[in-house]
Amino acid sequence: MTARTITLQVNGRKVEADVEPRTNLADFLRTALKLTGTHVGCEHGVCGACTVIVDGHAARSCLMLAVQADGAEVETVEGLGRVDALSPLQQAFSDCHALQCGFCTPGMLMTLESYLREHPAPSRDEIRDVLSGNICRCTGYQGIVDAAMQAAAARREPR
Ligand code: FES
Ligand code: FES
Repeated sequence: MTARTITLQVNGRKVEADVEPRTNLADFLRTALKLTGTHVGCEHGVCGACTVIVDGHAARSCLMLAVQADGAEVETVEGLGRVDALSPLQQAFSDCHALQCGFCTPGMLMTLESYLREHPAPSRDEIRDVLSGNICRCTGYQGIVDAAMQAAAARREPR
């Protein structure tokens, strides 16, 4: 198949690349851009591990072709914060022990990041609802919901 040239923003940086039309966005991010924070679990839209933010909305990068991201603004977990400067949501995950193996965590973070931008004062039930498409086999979700609530509060009242 003939490669196509795409141009997009990834974590605020302009990227231009040649991609095969069948390459999905998750593989493009992980392989071509070496952004391996985006995890791939089920590869068919069920687990949520591959969630990134595309033009402000959470999207499953295993279900999207890289060519569909042409012209888009993509955010991955690498764009949230740094090891020495965690985002409020990442800090809350650490504080609330919201991860164990961490495989689901990038997808959880990106799903919640996009949701909390639009919903600054969610209820616990709303958080559980928005996380219903992100599977975690380790935590039982309690710490993740705690972290989301802490992050929402931190965003409303920055220290
Ligand atoms: Fe994309 Fe599971 S890897 S939803
Ligand atoms: Fe292991 Fe969620 S922390 S799957």
